[in-house]
Amino acid sequence: MGLQQKGMHGAWASRWTFIMAATGSAVGLGNMWKFPYVAGSNGGGAFVLVYLGCILLIGVPVMMAEVLIGRHGRQSPINSMREAVTDSGANTKWQIVGWLGVLAGMLILSFYSVIAGWALDYIFLISSGDLQGINGAAASAKFSELLSDPSRLIMWQSVFMVLCVAVVVGGVKKGLGIAVETLMPLLFVMLLLLLVFSILKGNFSAAVNFLFSFDLDALTWRGVLEAMGQAFFTLSIGMGAIMAYGAYMPQDANIGKTILIVALFDSSVAIISGLIIFSIVFATPGIEPTEGPGLMFISLPVAFGSMPGGLLIGAIFFVLVSIAAWSSAISLLEPCVAWLMEAKNIGRARANIVIAGTAWVLGLGSVFSFNIWADYKVAGFNVFDFLDFLTANIMLPISGLLITLFVGYVLRKDVINVEMEGTSPQLLALWQMTIKYIAPSAIAVVFIMGVYDKFFV
Ligand code: PHE
Repeated sequence: MGLQQKGMHGAWASRWTFIMAATGSAVGLGNMWKFPYVAGSNGGGAFVLVYLGCILLIGVPVMMAEVLIGRHGRQSPINSMREAVTDSGANTKWQIVGWLGVLAGMLILSFYSVIAGWALDYIFLISSGDLQGINGAAASAKFSELLSDPSRLIMWQSVFMVLCVAVVVGGVKKGLGIAVETLMPLLFVMLLLLLVFSILKGNFSAAVNFLFSFDLDALTWRGVLEAMGQAFFTLSIGMGAIMAYGAYMPQDANIGKTILIVALFDSSVAIISGLIIFSIVFATPGIEPTEGPGLMFISLPVAFGSMPGGLLIGAIFFVLVSIAAWSSAISLLEPCVAWLMEAKNIGRARANIVIAGTAWVLGLGSVFSFNIWADYKVAGFNVFDFLDFLTANIMLPISGLLITLFVGYVLRKDVINVEMEGTSPQLLALWQMTIKYIAPSAIAVVFIMGVYDKFFV
């Protein structure tokens, strides 16, 4: 790889832009749509505790490792990984980490854009007033109506993809940088507004109780695997997104501190979203927290439709979700685009069209899994569930495990020292111990037990 390629994509304007970008990547459908329903289906409190444990013990150290490799390489994840491998004189098989990540990223982008399309559709559905005073059965029917209509799904999936391309085409500084600096503060304001609404109008204490009463008996190994998969998914780790963003991080920013801030923002948004959604769910009779993927799309319209001013709040809610999804999806697109630009020496616009087009075509599999292919099952899953399970619970943990082993045992020490400069010796030692021993053993145990529980029990 030529040296001229290093840094060819540019860099964030400041450490703050990196924080906004990484938070934008992390905060997304994972926090607002997935976290509440997965927590709801796994009994609430105990799941949340394990999830937070995974964020701290596995997520943060792996995220730091990814940023470190990215910033050292200053290229797309595939080539940054290649550089780290070559620099350390390691076996070239380690390069698979970069490939695995980018592949997972493409698969995630494919179904992510379909779900984000639901949120876009709901902005208009709620604003139309059609959901005023709707009950559970009718809301369920409205949601099924959307899922059973491939052309409506494809239209929104396409709109969403175009929005993503529009940002990524602008490049790191003018596209991604400006987008995240505008969108993230907006997102936080909207989130706080909704939190106030849910405290005033919802059953806030029941929500707190549900998310924070720890009944560990309610948790299975499969639930623990889901909690870990969720930690990987929500932090955008294991698939190159954070490695790519790390490649654009200013050299003088402290990796440890910066990543802790991002993880804190991300977990807060997940918890706050959970509180908002469950406050509203528990205040509405006949709606259960165990609703599954439809939780947000069925329960919330009923709740919003029954509250004074609810439709406006509901529309704001789905704008919020769409923005969060948008700032995440651009981080799935960017690593692949950066790689294609490096590998084929083509411009940003063309690379964008190729990558987004491929993800769009793959996304049709998820679109059809809700209607014409609903009966078509892979390993007991429909296409969408299969991709979701395969990426979050299989590919991301494997890629995370490989990253911990690579940075813990293979990567040259002076690369680590340069990138971790300014970190106190105690913290550095703590991180190294986690990355060498704690994180890999935790990932391996949870992965093996979870897969066993899922398929053989
Ligand atoms: N972290 C995002 C979310 O929680 C999803 C995502 C995964 C984004 C991987 C980028 C990369 O919604």
